[in-house]
Amino acid sequence: MKIFVTGGAGFIGGNFVYYMLKTHPDYDIVCLDALTYAGNLHTLSGALENPRFKFVKIDITDRDGIFGLFDTERPDIVVNFAAESHVDRSILSPEVFLKTNILGTQVLMDACREYGVKRFHQVSTDEVYGDLPLDRPDLLFTEATPIHTSSPYSASKASADLLVSAYCRTYGLPATISRCSNNYGPYHFPEKLIPLMIINILNGKPLPVYGDGKNVRDWLYVEDHCSAIDLIIHDGKVGEIYNIGGNNERSNLQIVELLISTLGKGEIKFVRDRAGHDLRYAIDSTKIKTQLGWTPRTDFENGIKKTVDWYLNNRSWWENIVSGEYINYYRRMYEDR
Ligand code: NAD
Ligand code: DAU
Repeated sequence: MKIFVTGGAGFIGGNFVYYMLKTHPDYDIVCLDALTYAGNLHTLSGALENPRFKFVKIDITDRDGIFGLFDTERPDIVVNFAAESHVDRSILSPEVFLKTNILGTQVLMDACREYGVKRFHQVSTDEVYGDLPLDRPDLLFTEATPIHTSSPYSASKASADLLVSAYCRTYGLPATISRCSNNYGPYHFPEKLIPLMIINILNGKPLPVYGDGKNVRDWLYVEDHCSAIDLIIHDGKVGEIYNIGGNNERSNLQIVELLISTLGKGEIKFVRDRAGHDLRYAIDSTKIKTQLGWTPRTDFENGIKKTVDWYLNNRSWWENIVSGEYINYYRRMYEDR
């Protein structure tokens, strides 16, 4: 079995590469990644020497390049993680989100059709459902919740989902979609809440909490997301959407306070809110649990401890990133906020 993993030099894709190499000792994995600001070959350093692994630097919107690669490699399964993934960046510059997240997905699906790929899996997000009110803890997103997006990022992911469903119905593309809640764990890019706060604490910088910090996210340890996708590509039903969630709702303030107490220091600074900021995400994962037998293995306290330890023990990974482009982005995003 040969699996194409797009976006495998990023956070979740990189964890998925390691998960698949470990879980399926007879599989070959080919990682396709454009190495944008979010992609990092150091993330894959533990896989690069593995004879069952290959890295190809390629942009998923490069139709000729992608078709050429499918022609030579002939993958059985394609799992599409490649995306522009940060909401704040999508508010600053939406265009590249539309190009990569929508048109890139289309190119991959066209190649899957041409070369008879047995399964195309689209890694989507709970953000396509919009948000839930803070005062209705009884409400959760199910797979039947209507799409209702807030940011250019979520609109681009929702557009891609609609396109995947259309390719499945119109062309018979054997596709599945998963919509997961917020991940955390090793190799998480420093622009995102949890790594940003850990790194700012370690660097003695203020901890920028948007608005009043009451917005809620549902957190899942990244390896549990990987195990869910592994199940879906093998046992999931073509044409189906599967929600994946951690059942771990926390306000942003609770997250930041937990990190402060774990690391023993840190000073919160409330800053201007994100435009269109979603209030609450909460996922109902009943379908994947009952139909595919998925269960998350890492509880939140243990997952946060493992994550903090990883950032403490892998300083060079994030110190290399917290430079150049990232410093410019950080200034633009947080100065005068
Ligand atoms: P990330 O930003 O860490 O990684 C994205 C990867 O895609 C990078 O390696 C980047 O170089 C690559 N990439 C970007 N544009 C590309 C292009 N045009 N061609 C080829 N490669 C390209 O993102 P992540 O957090 O690992 O998210 C991965 C996927 O999971 C995304 O599709 C995202 O929407 C989805 N998702 C993320 C979360 C989360 O909490 N992080 C939750 C649910 C779903
Ligand atoms: O729900 C899944 C989504 O989770 C994924 O689809 C996205 O790719 C991923 O980036 C993530 O989106 P969020 O917007 O929820 O993640 P982020 O880490 O950017 O922010 C989490 C919360 O923390 C959000 O309410 C905004 C807040 N925040 C974020 C940053 C970076 C702050 O208060 N301060 C910050 O500096």
